[in-house]
Amino acid sequence: MFLIKTIALSLYLLRSRTEGSPIPDPLTLVTRDFNVSDIYANWPSYDQLPLHPSFPTKAAWGVWGSEDELGALNHITPDTIKAALTEVQEGIAISLNLNLDVPHPPLIPTRTPLVHTFLAQEGFQDDIVTINTQISTQYDGLRHFPYSTNANVSTYQFYNNRVTFEEIFAAEGVNNLGIQNAASKGIAGRGVLLDWAGWMESRNASFDTLSDSSISVDDLDSVAEWQGLNSSSFTRPGDFLVVRTGFGKQYAALPLHEQMVAPFRENARFLGVETSEKTLAWIWEKKLALVGADNLGFETFPTRDAVINGVGRSLHEVFISGWGQSIVELLDLERLATTCHSLNRFTFFFTIQVLNVAGGVASPPNAMAIL
Ligand SMILES: *[C@@H]1O[C@H](CO)[C@@H](O)[C@H](O)[C@H]1NC(C)=O
Ligand SMILES: *[C@@H]1O[C@H](CO)[C@@H](O)[C@H](O)[C@H]1NC(C)=O
Ligand SMILES: *[C@@H]1O[C@H](CO)[C@@H](O)[C@H](O)[C@H]1NC(C)=O
Ligand SMILES: *[C@@H]1O[C@H](CO)[C@@H](O)[C@H](O)[C@H]1NC(C)=O
Repeated sequence: MFLIKTIALSLYLLRSRTEGSPIPDPLTLVTRDFNVSDIYANWPSYDQLPLHPSFPTKAAWGVWGSEDELGALNHITPDTIKAALTEVQEGIAISLNLNLDVPHPPLIPTRTPLVHTFLAQEGFQDDIVTINTQISTQYDGLRHFPYSTNANVSTYQFYNNRVTFEEIFAAEGVNNLGIQNAASKGIAGRGVLLDWAGWMESRNASFDTLSDSSISVDDLDSVAEWQGLNSSSFTRPGDFLVVRTGFGKQYAALPLHEQMVAPFRENARFLGVETSEKTLAWIWEKKLALVGADNLGFETFPTRDAVINGVGRSLHEVFISGWGQSIVELLDLERLATTCHSLNRFTFFFTIQVLNVAGGVASPPNAMAIL
């Protein structure tokens, strides 16, 4: 039986939506009954989300408690980290980060490029790095992408209702849902690579990562089988699931002129994982700590909507603000993929250490794979 308990009633939002159900005021805060020695007690299936009808579409609000700000990172435990140590066999450490100035210019034209300056002092040098955290390899934190309807700020809802847009931008802001939570959690464990691009190439199937094609989860299951993994059981709770779309390879091979004009193409499109309820259910049931890819946004870009109970939602909305599950984007997966194929092994130990910035929205992940 699925147990829930109602613990609090008062919240401070009075908002309405242009479509879908109105945001109730007050929200009803409902949490799952579990304890730290049995973290999957009363675990809801995808169909049982959300825990209360007043919560946004398929949100996992309350699943880790009413004040939780870690979301899917709660799947990482001492046991998952210790179990992942067996992945370290060859002593090969691989950075998964692009140069912070790649892609250059940034793929979205409103984002300014890296600014890197030097400061000569007497007897030593400093340098100063200024970045928009969305321009290169990036970890999307829980302040990045709220639920919204037609991008209208009056409909924004963040994970577990722990922060509002106004609070993020307030001069004396609160730090709720800031990236400092991920920085202090300590993110490590087992990574699993699904090399979709390699699978497509093995079948002589052509694809263009600068198109709006989508990767279905059925295809991802086929990729797992092609790699010799059991598609029913190739992930464990706490894993970091990484999809190689081939974007990084295709982008790196573009002539300089095409890289320079990439942000300014009419109707820029990027191939990604399909935005659908099928994808959401497939990911939720795996209890992943994180998902990642070598493309702009994990899912197909521009983000589109999966229509769920009459409301359109992107994977970004449900992952980040529904489940507190961060997305790691524009990963450099080339050397990892080559190494995995040569070892015929597609799991690895990984670490991520985001910048410890109070109230931060996103960060370079400083991601590393160790095999
Ligand atoms: C927590 O869960 C464990 C394992 O199911 C159980 O033995 C223990 O009694 C629970 N503790 C509390 C305080 O409910
Ligand atoms: C946003 O929603 C509010 C409340 O429904 C509405 O008054 C406003 O016109 C909307 N803004 C835009 C830009 O659509
Ligand atoms: C792919 O093309 C290569 C070279 O033409 C060929 O040797 C191989 O059999 C093809 N593979 C498939 C699955 O069609
Ligand atoms: C794949 O995993 C499932 C679930 O653990 C298991 O029932 C099945 O026997 C496995 N298949 C193979 C071929 O090992």
